[in-house]
Amino acid sequence: MPNPSLHETCASPLRSLSPADELKGSAARKARFWDRIAVKYAADPIADMAGYETTLRRVQALLSSEQDVLELGCGTGTTALRLAPCTRRLLATDVSAGMIAIAREKLAAEPVPQLSFAVADADAPVAGQGEYDAVLAFNLLHLVTDLDRALELAMQALRPGGLLISKTACIAEMNPLIRYVALPVMQAIGKAPHALRFDADALRSAIARQGMDIVSVERHGTRGKDFRVFIVARKPA
Ligand SMILES: C[S@@+](CC[C@H](N)C(=O)[O-])C[C@H]1O[C@@H](n2cnc3c(N)ncnc32)[C@H](O)[C@@H]1O
Repeated sequence: MPNPSLHETCASPLRSLSPADELKGSAARKARFWDRIAVKYAADPIADMAGYETTLRRVQALLSSEQDVLELGCGTGTTALRLAPCTRRLLATDVSAGMIAIAREKLAAEPVPQLSFAVADADAPVAGQGEYDAVLAFNLLHLVTDLDRALELAMQALRPGGLLISKTACIAEMNPLIRYVALPVMQAIGKAPHALRFDADALRSAIARQGMDIVSVERHGTRGKDFRVFIVARKPA
């Protein structure tokens, strides 16, 4: 019989990682790209300001000061700072500590009592079951590792009747030259992150597979073809 205490004390370099350590390792890998570009991301202007403002107004109309809200993949917190005053409490999270550090600087300069930031991976549980009235994911769902798992976790975090509100890029709808040439080249040289290639119908189906009711599917872009679909879905009451 192996002596369990020996196994616990003799650290072997070949010892396999626990699932929790594996999750931490994969979150650190995902964060690397975003940590590297965080300062530039914060400085870059929003490409379609009119479309962004339409999305903000739409989301503000869906939120209320009686709601606890979770944002996944919040980046440097620009949107969270705008939305938090419409909520009771907004926890905005991102896998990148670099992004969250900048978000916290912005919050310190412009305090909003309802808002807090945390580093968290949307591919792993961020919240307890049924803790939130709304889960927000802007420009995130095409970046997660496992869309079904991330949606399942978002659904679990919601209270019955709670809303999932997402706006995200549909890479399968982009020009094939971007999909099959530019994006893979950029990824190979570390200039673009890993990205899932779904279209709006596939995303809508993935959300519906989690048992959520689709409330609305919209496009808010004001410049040419809009590849980013805005979807509101409700967890059944
Ligand atoms: C394109 S930026 C969008 C940021 C912000 N939501 C916005 O709309 O400006 C994508 C963000 O998602 C974060 N991200 C990528 N993968 C993630 C994951 N698995 N879990 C949480 N955040 C993630 C990145 O660190 C980055 O800040």
